[in-house]
Amino acid sequence: MNKIILTLAAAMTMSLVVCAQSTGEKSMQTEKKVSVVYFSATGTTARSARTIADVTGGTLYEIVPQQAYTSADLDWNNSKSRSSVEMNDPQSRPELKGPKADVTASDIIFIGYPIWWNQAPRIINTFIESHDLKGKTLVPFATSGGSGINNSVKVLRDTYPDLKWEDGRLLNGADRNNIRSWAGGIMGKQ
Ligand SMILES: Cc1cc2nc3c(=O)[nH]c(=O)nc-3n(C[C@H](O)[C@H](O)[C@H](O)COP(=O)(O)O)c2cc1C
Repeated sequence: MNKIILTLAAAMTMSLVVCAQSTGEKSMQTEKKVSVVYFSATGTTARSARTIADVTGGTLYEIVPQQAYTSADLDWNNSKSRSSVEMNDPQSRPELKGPKADVTASDIIFIGYPIWWNQAPRIINTFIESHDLKGKTLVPFATSGGSGINNSVKVLRDTYPDLKWEDGRLLNGADRNNIRSWAGGIMGKQ
């Protein structure tokens, strides 16, 4: 009888282990409150942002321009297009639409954007300047047609030296596992 009970118990333990393994992911546990804010003109950065929010359990917030960007606005071959004019003017601050992000309680804020002319789009400056981000860990992420993220982060650091910037990560081609291990590393060291 004892043998049967032991065998049953062993079998149950094994199936629990298999069950736990088959879910594939351990939850990312942290006391820290995470927000994931992003601007995306054509949807690429939005996909990375959703994955970051998903793997970190962070609150997702989209930075929406008051006036949406049309494809003509995004024409980098035209020096008079809206994006060219904005990026040529470091003081340009495109207006935000909708309620502000509630980041009061957030400790870590992932901030995502497409690289425009090797920088963060000016609406990222609008977002930064209209929210109180002091003391929070800011983690830039971006997608691009090939350029790196470093110059955009340098410009953000130089423009807002009182804020706490992580180096950030270009997420071109990053899959869920890549994003999970990168975000986990950031959260682990906070
Ligand atoms: C106005 C504009 C400027 C851009 N400048 C660059 C650039 O300097 N380097 C680069 O690699 N990609 C550049 N791109 C490409 C975008 O960074 C890339 O397509 C990005 O993934 C788009 O993200 P989104 O879909 O979230 O808007 C530019 C795109 C636009 C519209």
